[in-house]
Amino acid sequence: MPTTVMSFESSEPIGRVMSVDTMRVFIHVDDHELLKKVMVGNLIAVQGATGHQFLISIVERVTRLPSDSLGVSEATDDETVPQPEEIQDTIRAVLVGTYRSKDGDAGPSFKRGADSCPQIDQPCHLIQGVNLTAFMGVLSQDVPSEKALRLGHFAIDPTAQAVADGDRFFQRHAAILGSTGSGKSYTVASLLERANTLSHPNIILLDMHGEYASLAKGKDYPNGYAQYFKIAGPGDLVKPKPHSLFLPYWLLNREEMLSMLLDRSDDNAPNQAMRFTSLVLEKKREALERSKLDEVLASFTVDSPIHYDLEALVKSLREDDQAMVVGSSGRDKQGQWHGKLTRFISRLEAKIKDRRYGFLFQSPKATSAYDWLQEIAVRFLSTTKDEQSGIKVVDFSEVPADVLPTIISVFARVLYDVQFWMRSESRTPVCLVCDEAHLYLPVRSDADAVSRRALDTFERIAKEGRKYGFTLLVVSQRPSDVSKTILSQCNNFIALRLTNEQDQSAVKSVMPDSMAGIADILPLLDIGEAIVLGDSILLPSRIKLDKPTATPLSLTKNFWREWTEKRSDSDAIRAAVENLRRQSKGTELKK
Ligand SMILES: Nc1ncnc2c1ncn2[C@@H]1O[C@H](COP(=O)(O)OP(=O)(O)O)[C@@H](O)[C@H]1O
Ligand SMILES: [Mg+2]
Repeated sequence: MPTTVMSFESSEPIGRVMSVDTMRVFIHVDDHELLKKVMVGNLIAVQGATGHQFLISIVERVTRLPSDSLGVSEATDDETVPQPEEIQDTIRAVLVGTYRSKDGDAGPSFKRGADSCPQIDQPCHLIQGVNLTAFMGVLSQDVPSEKALRLGHFAIDPTAQAVADGDRFFQRHAAILGSTGSGKSYTVASLLERANTLSHPNIILLDMHGEYASLAKGKDYPNGYAQYFKIAGPGDLVKPKPHSLFLPYWLLNREEMLSMLLDRSDDNAPNQAMRFTSLVLEKKREALERSKLDEVLASFTVDSPIHYDLEALVKSLREDDQAMVVGSSGRDKQGQWHGKLTRFISRLEAKIKDRRYGFLFQSPKATSAYDWLQEIAVRFLSTTKDEQSGIKVVDFSEVPADVLPTIISVFARVLYDVQFWMRSESRTPVCLVCDEAHLYLPVRSDADAVSRRALDTFERIAKEGRKYGFTLLVVSQRPSDVSKTILSQCNNFIALRLTNEQDQSAVKSVMPDSMAGIADILPLLDIGEAIVLGDSILLPSRIKLDKPTATPLSLTKNFWREWTEKRSDSDAIRAAVENLRRQSKGTELKK
């Protein structure tokens, strides 16, 4: 399709280049009336070195200032001081790219970055009307259709669709940031929906509030398409449902296990860690010997995910803790570990019995089979399973907050490790969507031992995941509370409305310097409106995002309206008390 070319021949320039610094251009506006037409976020084309080259810039600031308080003293001497210069109109704009109305033999093109520096006095034109349409046409033509990820439409031109490069968006981690209620979950849902139109997508969504259950395929939600899993809560231990997911203890590596069990303030902590580690190794070896897995035996480590007998391990710990040995004098004396493991054992036993940790320590027998881990890996890493979508929602909503980071990091690490060990030519890309990331990926200085493990895992994925086709989409309402290491690895940002100043500066700190001015409009964005920045989109711009067809369950209550219309349900309150006792939301009260 031939694209129309921007042309400014028939229009008056809005002003002229007054001064330039590396990324910004200051434009002097002669006509005071024209200034009123310019708004922050508008696009301006600065005439470049040749006739068909324009430097494209985004308006950051529009100012009208009294002109350097024109010689008041002179005015007393000479009453003919020039009056029209009383005010000075300027526009400050940030340079974002270069437009050519023809590029060799090819038609118009746009690329990021200014090819040349704007020259003083060059005419500047506001891009509007047919020129805006022509320019937007060039933007969308630049992303080949097989890569096109439609996000919504541009705020400055509702007729122009905003298309990102889908490869680039997912390739090097991305983040969706915005205050609560700004539209993050809807944005996630609409990205998943777009991905679901592809033949073999693979996105695993970590759902903290159970709000994405409506994206799952099932009779309750006609528009649903995703596969749904839920980490088994205390109520799922006796009769697990088909979607219940267990993460048995033997998946945890040494560090993860110790972060949960060890009390570092205990004098005996180093002894406990040492003994526990060697016993785990021993029990794993015994299990492998029993199954005659010689090849694994030859090379496994304490961290290898191999099922071992936890009961036997506790028994051995207890024996060590009580052991007496024959001393040199022939009399019994306390063994090496005597009394040193007592507290460790009681912490371990408390965890084993705690139903909240049931998904770890009380998982069904089937999960101890050698093949079980392979089945789980296939379930999550395969893009299509029969007729099922490669989009998976994993519901963590019933997982208690204190163990959340551990569980999430074990889940992510196991999948990442499998992806890591896969033959590179067979790997297919996977994206892990980390909703409410501030809950489990905190700033390192604020993290406790458990969260630090989660951080280690995710920071490793953030740093090297790209090489293995495993990337993150971080979603958070508190960007200032999310690990800086992870955010700074993100290459694309969808920044929705952000009201808190600390959060705004967290977002600014990961944006390129030149965009800081544009970030000033973050608190002013409408719901579902975002600034999209990064290498996936040519023009960093304000975009009205699409609404998904299958919407997440709304968590926003209309207080005033519901207080007017909706009576409370006493039975539901009673059922909730039972839920609380049983630690499961599925309770139906018998009437
Ligand atoms: N793109 C959008 N267009 C229009 N309305 C939207 C859009 N995204 C979100 N909303 C509205 O805002 C509400 C909150 O969105 P949600 O995605 O749940 O916010 P968050 O996850 O940021 O808290 C939704 O219930 C919906 O009504
Ligand atoms: Mg949300």
